[in-house]
Amino acid sequence: MRISVIGCGYLGAVHAACMAKLGHEVVGIDVDERKIAELSAARAPFFEPGLEDLLREVQETGRLSFTTDLAAAEGSAVHFICVGTPQKKGENAADLTYVDSATFGLLPYLSPGDLIVGKSTVPVGTATRLSNLIQAQEPDAHLVWNPEFLREGHAVSDTLHPDRFVYGVANGSEEHPAVAILDEVYSTSLALGTPRLVTDHPTAELVKTAANSFLATKISFINAMAELCEAAGADVTRLADAIGMDDRIGRKFLNAGIGFGGGCLPKDIRAFMARAGELGADQALTFLREVDAINMRRRTRMVELSRELCDGSLMGKRITVLGAAFKPESDDVRDSPALSIAAQLQLQGAIVTVTDPKALANAARRFPELHYEPDTDKAAERADAVLLLTEWKEYQNLDPYEFAHIVSSLRILDGRNVLDATKWRAAGWTYRGLGRP
Ligand code: UGA
Repeated sequence: MRISVIGCGYLGAVHAACMAKLGHEVVGIDVDERKIAELSAARAPFFEPGLEDLLREVQETGRLSFTTDLAAAEGSAVHFICVGTPQKKGENAADLTYVDSATFGLLPYLSPGDLIVGKSTVPVGTATRLSNLIQAQEPDAHLVWNPEFLREGHAVSDTLHPDRFVYGVANGSEEHPAVAILDEVYSTSLALGTPRLVTDHPTAELVKTAANSFLATKISFINAMAELCEAAGADVTRLADAIGMDDRIGRKFLNAGIGFGGGCLPKDIRAFMARAGELGADQALTFLREVDAINMRRRTRMVELSRELCDGSLMGKRITVLGAAFKPESDDVRDSPALSIAAQLQLQGAIVTVTDPKALANAARRFPELHYEPDTDKAAERADAVLLLTEWKEYQNLDPYEFAHIVSSLRILDGRNVLDATKWRAAGWTYRGLGRP
């Protein structure tokens, strides 16, 4: 099939490459010339495991091209909208500027029978509004809301082998003509047994925000337990292991630490609350305010613990921060708890050096006032305290004996609870985790 993908960020670039891998003829479109130049040269404009290899592989087939010209969408049967919906400045609500402009921009290039497929995370009600606009221009075109559930760091495999497909169509019916077209797009995954649910526009939009809210709640739940564990002298990681053995609870997303960040969970729960307020249902989501508050408290707690570890004062203390990305296997620093903690420590008088295998360039753009060092050992030289804030494998595998020769003082704060406390203590370190004795 001929497919266009509008927006080539973390979502769209991967989606375009994966659609080409599935055998479709794909054009990726973005307003960012630098991004398009990189992608056209089969280079990933950001770090995502497996993406560059995939780009090279599909580029050779001639089925994938990139351009800044929206007119290139003409002739495609299916148009995916993959642009960002960031938090509005100074507000909780989502900024729909990019979704709106991508949709308006597409209108002149639509043909009868075309399918517009929204993948971006949007406030409920957006799809119906856009659908009406599209129908006014091209009555035979259809809009489907088909939310994307990929995780950064696993984006390629999540796109090629998703847990489920959700199709939100105007009448919510399996018989809607859009269903068969989208089934053809995803035929490979469907043949492998990936379940798909057909529903209406608002339900499809809500599935995505509900899923992210649930994940955020799960993380904040265990972080609230971590607060209690600290007060009671208990160990939150053992507690998570034990409650996670109950199938109904499950162990995934129960890792206590410095909390969630990134370009999705934090802004999605806020936009959800804002939208619920507009719909007069704000009471239903007041708990998400607490989820957000618990999450933000983890960052403050980490700064307090760092001060405690540094004998009560951060002034002039050399602190090494391991990790800048919001999670491992990504170079994304949007709302990264690690960077936000690093910046706080610096503001409170510490001399902070941040290291990360992939995210330093992005981090330096966002927080130019921090000091960055790509080499872990160099970053840790003469440190008064080391903070592990993003659980990259290489930090989890650090040898506490060898690392002891590099730093000034053997103090480590494990913001992700991934180190073996016994091993580090045996090597002479003062080890502190979050919610652990
Ligand atoms: C999240 C969802 O997991 C995806 O399903 C969704 O498609 C995506 O948002 C989106 O809306 O586009 P992502 O932001 O890539 O994906 O990252 P997650 O794996 O969800 O992690 C989010 C944050 O939670 C990270 O900062 C991570 O370190 C933190 N986290 C995760 C914890 O603190 N504890 C955990 O147990 C798990």
